[in-house]
Amino acid sequence: MGHAEYEHFASGFFDRADENDDAIFYEPVRLVQHIDDAAIAGVGELYAELDITGDVLDLMSSWISHFETTPDRLALLGMNEAELRANPQASEIVVHDLNADPSLPWPDDHFDDVVCAMSVDYLTRPLEVFEDVARVLRPGGRFVCTFSNRCFPTKAIRGWLAASDSLRGEIVATYFRLSGHWQEPTIDTRIRGGVTDPLYAVWATVLGSSNEESDT
Ligand SMILES: C[S@@+](CC[C@H](N)C(=O)[O-])C[C@H]1O[C@@H](n2cnc3c(N)ncnc32)[C@H](O)[C@@H]1O
Repeated sequence: MGHAEYEHFASGFFDRADENDDAIFYEPVRLVQHIDDAAIAGVGELYAELDITGDVLDLMSSWISHFETTPDRLALLGMNEAELRANPQASEIVVHDLNADPSLPWPDDHFDDVVCAMSVDYLTRPLEVFEDVARVLRPGGRFVCTFSNRCFPTKAIRGWLAASDSLRGEIVATYFRLSGHWQEPTIDTRIRGGVTDPLYAVWATVLGSSNEESDT
């Protein structure tokens, strides 16, 4: 792997049971809810609480982005064009495989905030992706990752599958810390789960500019 900080992860951490091209797995159109109504509402509440309303990128997106109110501009990046086209909140869609190419097809300082729902566990090169998210964010922008306790197990990385829900928050926080360019992340249990799906969130604010190095 390219990024030097991957030495912090055990060998095999980013392996998956299904190492075939992601385009094969995501070719069927899945117009389904990946979490229940309560967790979806929880994501929307978090976005509203954080006031994510401007120029926004929804990374690893599908047909629903969970915003209570559609942001001024919402770009989607995902694997399945039909799913992205079905998203009523989208203003722009891009089909792009982040495991094949972890760089984002937008210029520097392009978005106010970036979100990623129920998907961070599929990234095999998260440090490069988190680094590039920092690049496309404007100063003060946040990257908000949410997840529950469900996944496509053959496509999730082994390190994620082996971790408890609370350790998964630490995994995402570690991506922020090791990729640099981020203030200390917030880890939050939004819905404890039980009757409904649990909902966890990890987010951080980008440092002043994409050239500024984190001292952590
Ligand atoms: C469980 S779904 C979540 C979809 C949506 N964010 C939501 O909350 O309903 C996982 C999503 O990750 C996207 N994804 C998976 N692997 C990807 C990759 N290598 N590059 C970009 N997107 C990917 C897929 O397109 C899929 O929509």
